[in-house]
Amino acid sequence: VLTKFQKECATPTPFLRNIADAIAADMRAGLAVEGGGDLKMILTYVDTLPSGKEEGLFYALDLGGTNFRVHSMQLGGMEERVIATNSEEISIPQELKIGTSEELFGFIASKLANFVANENIPGRFQLEQGTKREIGFAFSFPVNQTSIDSGTVIKWNKGFAVSGMEGKNVVACLNEAMEAHGLDMRVSALVNDTVGTLAGARYWDEDVMVGVIIGTGTNACYVDQKDAIPKIQSISSSGTTIINTEWAGFSKILPQTIFDQEMDEASVDRGEHLYMKMISGMYLGEIGRRVLLQMSETSHLFGQSVPVKLSTPFALRTMDLCRMQEDKTDDREMVGSILKEVLEVEANLEARKRVAEVCDTVVKRGGRLAGAGIVAILEKIEKDTKRLSSGKRTVVAIDGGVYENHPLFRQYMQDAVVDLLGDKFASHIEFKHTKDVSGIGAALLAATNSIY
Ligand code: BG6
Ligand code: GLC
Repeated sequence: VLTKFQKECATPTPFLRNIADAIAADMRAGLAVEGGGDLKMILTYVDTLPSGKEEGLFYALDLGGTNFRVHSMQLGGMEERVIATNSEEISIPQELKIGTSEELFGFIASKLANFVANENIPGRFQLEQGTKREIGFAFSFPVNQTSIDSGTVIKWNKGFAVSGMEGKNVVACLNEAMEAHGLDMRVSALVNDTVGTLAGARYWDEDVMVGVIIGTGTNACYVDQKDAIPKIQSISSSGTTIINTEWAGFSKILPQTIFDQEMDEASVDRGEHLYMKMISGMYLGEIGRRVLLQMSETSHLFGQSVPVKLSTPFALRTMDLCRMQEDKTDDREMVGSILKEVLEVEANLEARKRVAEVCDTVVKRGGRLAGAGIVAILEKIEKDTKRLSSGKRTVVAIDGGVYENHPLFRQYMQDAVVDLLGDKFASHIEFKHTKDVSGIGAALLAATNSIY
């Protein structure tokens, strides 16, 4: 089982090159016409990125895969930049992920109301007559954007299935909830979490061209030339804009194994998001569990009986899978203790080593596939602007639990980028971990798009 699994998951450079090219082809197709390819290539209406000149008090809401955050930022313009920030992190109760839109947005509005009520606002940032506090909303789900401050959810994912949102504007849902909580505030920017990450990172570093999330889900956005986007119909299509790729949707020529197929069969979005299902935190542990279950059934990995816990879907979390993969000690102590704690099995050294190999195979495939996606984007930027060949430093801002906590995932991803781009181009690429910056980016975009 193990050797077959390793063989099927392998991503040698020529194969990875085909994947990067297939992603690039779907990017082009999605930019040509709406729904043209697996990647939606959503127009975000973010044409102006933060410059450092932003001034005033702005808020942000950041609804991620696992947590929800509220931020405020006091911005002092070019000289003073960020004067103060304040934030609060709240984990999202499971029942809200599958409840009604009133419940989810009511929760968000109540946390915001609480946050605002407890803030001390310096005199210079007191509200002027006839104005409202403005909010940037970093929303980590695919949205059919109709303007910078409106859009409808295309489809929930990452375990969220909120009812009553069909065709409804996300901002309108939030507005209703804010009104019910007596909050007189206005959403000035609705942005994807990758867009928030790119915008936030850009405030400090103007070479940031790509924003990536590798957490519960995965996605990327980048700065594109408007005149390289055929589906933009307006005449004044010059300058740059940000495209949200929604690369999770890529589903072609991927190294799918029987375990991926079975996990996909059992998922709510069957046949979709196959790329995300090989890369992100919601799935890596589950793939590993399925492989270990079969090894246990067919080759008695853990002795004659199959551990009960191993048959429970999602019993192995990605975090545990990665920790086992990272264990390079002679006796695989960490592997042993995680197996015991999480799956309630005793494993001898031979079994632990095989478990570690399974974990490594899953992490390596995920990291390398994410690298291929980044290369597809970087090559698009190069094609349109010759940025890399002119030797310009190019920064990829990345956040999300998998990227943040798993150095070997990061390493595999970066190695894949070098393998595909070659040293000459790759030497101009910098990966920057921009932790929790998407909310900051959303607040800055609220400032950039302020109507006052
Ligand atoms: C957070 C960002 O740090 O990472 C969010 O602020 C983003 O906007 C999240 O959605 C993604 O990570 P995870 O692991 O929560 O899915
Ligand atoms: C999923 C969502 C996408 C989001 C990503 C990371 O792929 O579709 O919008 O950016 O997760 O949170």
